[in-house]
Amino acid sequence: MPNSLLIKKKIRKFNKIISVSGDKSISIRWVLLASLASGVSKAQNLLISEDVQAAIQAVRKLGIKVVMRDKFCKIYGNGLNGFKYKKNLTINAENSGTLGRLILGFLINTTIPIKLIGDQSLSKRDFKRVSDPLSKFGAILKLKNKKNLPLVIQGSKNLKPISYLEKKGSAQCKSSVIFAGLRTKGTTIIKAKKSRNHTELMCNYLRLPVSVKRKKKYDEIKVKKVKKIKPFDYKIPSDISSSAFFIVLTVLSKNSKLVVKNVNINQSRIGVIQILKKMGADIIFKNKKTYKGEKIADIQIRGGKTLNAINCPSKLNSGAIDEFLVIFLVAAKAKGISYFKDLAELNHKESPRLKWSSKILNMIGIKNTVTESTIKIYGNPDLELKKQIVIKDYLKDHRVFMTGVIAALSFGGKWKIHNKESIKTSFPNFLNIIKELKKND
Ligand code: S3P
Repeated sequence: MPNSLLIKKKIRKFNKIISVSGDKSISIRWVLLASLASGVSKAQNLLISEDVQAAIQAVRKLGIKVVMRDKFCKIYGNGLNGFKYKKNLTINAENSGTLGRLILGFLINTTIPIKLIGDQSLSKRDFKRVSDPLSKFGAILKLKNKKNLPLVIQGSKNLKPISYLEKKGSAQCKSSVIFAGLRTKGTTIIKAKKSRNHTELMCNYLRLPVSVKRKKKYDEIKVKKVKKIKPFDYKIPSDISSSAFFIVLTVLSKNSKLVVKNVNINQSRIGVIQILKKMGADIIFKNKKTYKGEKIADIQIRGGKTLNAINCPSKLNSGAIDEFLVIFLVAAKAKGISYFKDLAELNHKESPRLKWSSKILNMIGIKNTVTESTIKIYGNPDLELKKQIVIKDYLKDHRVFMTGVIAALSFGGKWKIHNKESIKTSFPNFLNIIKELKKND
């Protein structure tokens, strides 16, 4: 199979109902929490992607039995002390920041050193942001260059609770400290800038000792030592971050309509919808329901509406943090100059995404000015491409790949996008859904 994708023409109108795969954040959290439960937990619609497989491999290495069958996954938890910490154990988080950072919270009580490694992209990312708070519990974390993987964690049986101020709006840092707090006597107190709250909702559903006081800008979270986690079944809803690519494709396609079924619309994740609606997109939620504390709905999008530039309020950033690459494609086609600020975190993702956004906009001939944390995009409603475009050397960032595909299908031109395999980390089914939308094209 050639590993680059060629796209030679725009998509024409479509009218379809699709389902995208399970939410990645929820899938990884379920694997980790189920592995410490006392008994067998079962998940349906678990995301089967490299990031989640890496989470399954990690808990297997820690002695937990996992059985995968089609879209079902069974985890045989052995209780809170069920992990078998062996000498010379290495856990490979591969490309997953979520797995790499969250699992450290669970490993905080290992008295045997455990090594954490990752792929080329993860090895460039900042792990000091989690090793700093975790070492305050009394664990020792040694990192390469004091910042990166490989990392060695040696925890302790005598952990001390901490007070932690999470200022970046990182759900990974917040969750890692919540999980460490669950293994620590006393009360851990976290003041966290708003970020996705799947960990808190799952803990609440499981009646774990995690309480949350929601304030305007910060959440105040108190965590106590957990006594037992009951096994729990979970039907994973579809991922809004994966849906976002098709939402944007529809918004940019005249006379098209799409329904994405059963998507997680947690308030802390719907920034993409809020931003696109402010720009004039026609998007509505249908069949809303609540499942284990998470909100779910079908998302209906009608394309081809007039799109206006946005001066994006920073308060919408955290809910759209994984979606800005594709959101910027809408700004490229909007009327007027869009401005996005306070986005320094984007350069801490699988690739430096703010820089890559600017590169892609340059490739498609859209004037933009970028700094370390802001981007100004000069939209062109008549944007139509004829030229050749090649995307490569992007650290195999799945979202850069998928953004390239959506740009090609929306704006035309002849595209060659390298490293098709990059989508396997989060959304292996992505290109099959594109095929489905192109039927009758
Ligand atoms: C995630 C949190 C976010 C997000 C990532 C998934 C999570 O990262 O970008 O894709 O599941 O907790 P940060 O915590 O670095 O913001």
